[in-house]
Amino acid sequence: MRRIWILLIAVAFVCGGLACFAIAQEAPKKSDNWLKDAADDAERFTLIEKMFGGFSGAMQIVGERYLRTYDAITDGNFDLANYHWKKIKDAIELGYLRRPARKAHADALFLNGPWRSAEEAILSKDKGKASAEAFLTARAACMTCHAAEQVAFMNDQPMFRNTAAFPER
Ligand code: HEC
Repeated sequence: MRRIWILLIAVAFVCGGLACFAIAQEAPKKSDNWLKDAADDAERFTLIEKMFGGFSGAMQIVGERYLRTYDAITDGNFDLANYHWKKIKDAIELGYLRRPARKAHADALFLNGPWRSAEEAILSKDKGKASAEAFLTARAACMTCHAAEQVAFMNDQPMFRNTAAFPER
């Protein structure tokens, strides 16, 4: 009886091993060279486009730099505010390079108007102008674009609530 059990267990091991071997044989060749290994350029370009993402990646950067701009104006560090504000424009332009459908609203509602006015105000290094007049107008334009692009829910978050006014210093 014991012999039969040992035999059965041995057979199970051998079969298991063979099954694993078969799976390993069937699996497609994988390496870290995900672009080189693509079948052709069409597949390669699709992979690159996927890797860059869409508009939301750009917006994540914009959101972060928006907060840093707010802090920099609050601190009276206009060079830093200017640095982040310019990069917000770059990020939005790269965003609509990837998602052209976003370009019309981004240009009309933000970049061609409020972004530019805020840029001028930041460069003037006048805190009153940069904060109350320019930044807050640009903030409203961010929110208008979210509504226009059917993502109004974006506006109901601390990022916008906490930047509705500047602290007195
Ligand atoms: C084209 C008009 C447009 C403008 C201008 C715009 N946004 Fe957006 N924003 C969007 C859209 C559309 C999404 C959703 C993206 C998606 O679904 O891929 C978004 C998403 C976001 C998100 C969420 C990103 C994430 O996925 O984590 C943040 C944060 C954000 N926007 C902040 C801002 C701020 C701050 C400004 C102004 C400085 C701004 N947006 C200006 C259209 C805009």
